[in-house]
Amino acid sequence: MADAFQLGFGPLSAPKTGVLVVFCDDHLALGSATKRALGRAADLIEQAAKADWFKGKNGAVVELLAPQGLAANRLVVIGAGKIGDLKPQDFVKLGGVAMGKVPAGAERVTIFADLPGRPMTDVQIADLALGIRLRNYTFERYKTKKKDADDKAAMVRVEIAAADPRAAQTLWRRRGALADGVIVARDLVHEPPNVLFPAEFARRAGALRKLGVSVQVLDEPAMRKLGMNALLGVGQGSDHDSRVVVMRWNGGKRGEPPIAFVGKGVCFDSGGISIKPAAGMEDMKGDMAGAACVTGLMRALAGRKAKVNAVGVVGLVENMPDGKAQRPGDIVKTMAGHTIEIINTDAEGRLVLADVLHYTNTRFKPRFMIDLATLTGAIMVALGQEYAGMFVNDDALASHLTEAGQATGEKVWRMPLGPEYDKLIESRFADMKNTGGRHGGASTAAALLARFVGNTPWAHLDIAGTALGSSQTDINRSWSSGWGVRLLDRLVAEHYEK
Ligand code: BES
Ligand code: MN
Ligand code: ZN
Repeated sequence: MADAFQLGFGPLSAPKTGVLVVFCDDHLALGSATKRALGRAADLIEQAAKADWFKGKNGAVVELLAPQGLAANRLVVIGAGKIGDLKPQDFVKLGGVAMGKVPAGAERVTIFADLPGRPMTDVQIADLALGIRLRNYTFERYKTKKKDADDKAAMVRVEIAAADPRAAQTLWRRRGALADGVIVARDLVHEPPNVLFPAEFARRAGALRKLGVSVQVLDEPAMRKLGMNALLGVGQGSDHDSRVVVMRWNGGKRGEPPIAFVGKGVCFDSGGISIKPAAGMEDMKGDMAGAACVTGLMRALAGRKAKVNAVGVVGLVENMPDGKAQRPGDIVKTMAGHTIEIINTDAEGRLVLADVLHYTNTRFKPRFMIDLATLTGAIMVALGQEYAGMFVNDDALASHLTEAGQATGEKVWRMPLGPEYDKLIESRFADMKNTGGRHGGASTAAALLARFVGNTPWAHLDIAGTALGSSQTDINRSWSSGWGVRLLDRLVAEHYEK
């Protein structure tokens, strides 16, 4: 976590030193508070814009060093484009762009939350701050050589200059919870697998208790008693015991059934006996990104005291080859009572989810279940890294998720489920097998999950492409973007809180 970073709020007045960031529109117009603070230096912007062909397009930047007549030693002007077109997500992005322009060594940054027409609202400022915080994130816990004292990561104080700093600060206290949630997810994905094994993941999830989340941890004897043999089979080749963690946030009406989020938490996926090739295997420390997202989401919901009853359930295992490991040919009996023939021990995520989905569905009778899983390489072949695959048995849930994806930029694309795919996982010896052959790999994986959700509205998000090796954006420069936390927080806020 970017620990040496401070975010504060102050009035719309020119800073005495450091970097000053201001916004303009696509006619280079400035807000009136900005103009007042810049004084004569405002004229410099026009000259600099000409010299740099800067037109104020959304996200474009022009920088002025040691601007005459200003106490600040660097002036960064960011284009906001057409002010009337700005959507909430644009403010998040602009925060990211602003933070991206802070040079190494800067100690103080003042960001003017002002636009032509009027200063930014508290809600816009909260989005701006979210972008600032997410852009500033790095994961450097295991770098022993600390950066120089004068390096950006060493200490940067960011002040957002706002029309009503106190109101902005108050709103950020709630909105900041979403940033905390995203960062929890990113940190969990980045942790190495020798550190973050199932019991350690469970211990970290336990930290949510101090926010009012009830956290229950099922150990192996508890799972055995429940009959979760599909999950236990995946973990049986590992020296690390498996866990299931149940996180409950009750911010909604008493007795109202919860909404449920389920995560694949394979802390390391070697493939097991069907071992993976060496190249890139280190990335499989991130095979718990679904569980990380669910944990980060619960952190966000509790942190902002969301008015909803929500449960997050994560299945935590390590998939290793060993004398005790599961074999191809093994048949396991799931908690639901169905049997699965193991064809490939590397198709382990669906085995974990089969038991966790059934457990969640029968124990909580939720209004819906959404699972997140780095489930298949096939989804990356189909969709690349920009969209997660969405498999869903309920059209309303599908459209809510699609909308939330468009709004947050964490986009989902609907993929097919159906009897044609279900047929492909028929087994000669058991009720089903854990792979479906060469074709339609993401859909046959989803078809197996579908057998464990009953009639509950359910969506499965295959995040193998989006959660790891994330594309570098204005609000993420790390390996894992914490994909899904903003998407699901938005889904909850829009449709399930009253
Ligand atoms: N965790 C992997 C999927 C994955 C691959 C996630 C790359 C992120 C990046 C999953 O457990 C897996 O190994 N899936 C196999 C299934 C196959 C054996 C049917 C796959 O996709 O190759
Ligand atoms: Mn695998
Ligand atoms: Zn896996």
